Amino acid sequence: MSDHGTREIDPVTGRDITSHDWNGIRELNTPLPKLVIWALIVTFAYSVLAWILLPAWPVGRDYTRGLLGLDQGDVAVAGYRDLASGRQGWLERFAADDFASLQSDTALMAVAGPAAQRLFEDNCAACHGLAGQGGPGFPALSDASWLWSGDPAEIALTIRHGINSEDPDTRIAEMPPFDWMERAERDALAAYVAALPTGAAAADDPAVGLFADNCASCHGDDGEGGLEVGAPSLADTSVVYGQDPQTVMATLRHGRIGEMPAWSGRLSAAEINLLALHVAGLGPRGEAAQ
Ligand code: HEC
Ligand code: HEC
Repeated sequence: MSDHGTREIDPVTGRDITSHDWNGIRELNTPLPKLVIWALIVTFAYSVLAWILLPAWPVGRDYTRGLLGLDQGDVAVAGYRDLASGRQGWLERFAADDFASLQSDTALMAVAGPAAQRLFEDNCAACHGLAGQGGPGFPALSDASWLWSGDPAEIALTIRHGINSEDPDTRIAEMPPFDWMERAERDALAAYVAALPTGAAAADDPAVGLFADNCASCHGDDGEGGLEVGAPSLADTSVVYGQDPQTVMATLRHGRIGEMPAWSGRLSAAEINLLALHVAGLGPRGEAAQ
């Protein structure tokens, strides 16, 4: 039973007893500790101060700026400027085309490595893959096979002007269509080309003569590629489009003109050279090419 209305004092603590009574257990009316009250006062005072001094309230598309005028946007821009000026110090050195001495400066290459990887991810990975592994229609940059060359100066040229791009100095590479050829001849060539990487192509194959007459001028006598016309090796296992008979038939029927954009207007000369060195070092053939 509770005695509403009357004030009762607990004999042990000297505090009020509330009117709550649960089966004989009664509750003391304990006030909030002073520490808690002060903490509330201080945090409230701080919030009022913060509203006045710091950016706080959204107002339409804007917000109240506060008296201190702090702006994280400015802080971020200042941080970016610092970073850019720090980078400018070493990035400028890549503007020189002396690839051999840049490459041998291991300290410089170590500093530049992460920036090169970022540039690659931002500009190249969409087509060539994050690690330069390539994909259908986009050559791998991380294996031992080049359409043009693994030399950093040649790679820089490719990046600067592109391949079959809009750039007036673009590299030009075209696999012409052979749709004029007899279907049976194309079939024989497709089987021959598909067997080249495995070494299974027979020397007495009638396609040998067809290959020598029609293909060797660009792809090399043994399909080894690398003749500075951007024609890939057909003798290794690295492929751009595919080297199974069906894909080769499609290549022969329609030809191929892959397009690699030019980056001369978009990246600085130093950035392009840095990327060229990065690409040259991506795979095992990076060393072979140096
Ligand atoms: C829009 C897709 C695309 C982007 C982005 C792109 N490339 Fe390419 N790249 C290609 C294609 C396609 C080819 C092959 C062109 C051909 O078939 O002749 C190529 C070829 C190359 C080659 C020649 C490879 C060899 O074996 O000789 C290099 C080097 C290269 N790209 C580097 C780069 C770098 C570095 C970047 C980033 C700055 C980049 N590419 C961005 C599509 C792209
Ligand atoms: C005028 C030079 C030229 C001639 C001639 C030529 N090719 Fe090509 N071929 C190329 C070029 C350049 C490419 C790369 C095209 C690209 O990447 O866009 C290519 C690509 C290919 C590919 C694709 C390889 C891959 O990795 O996917 C095959 C297959 C091929 N050629 C087979 C042949 C055969 C077979 C012949 C003869 C009937 C032939 N080519 C004649 C220049 C030539």
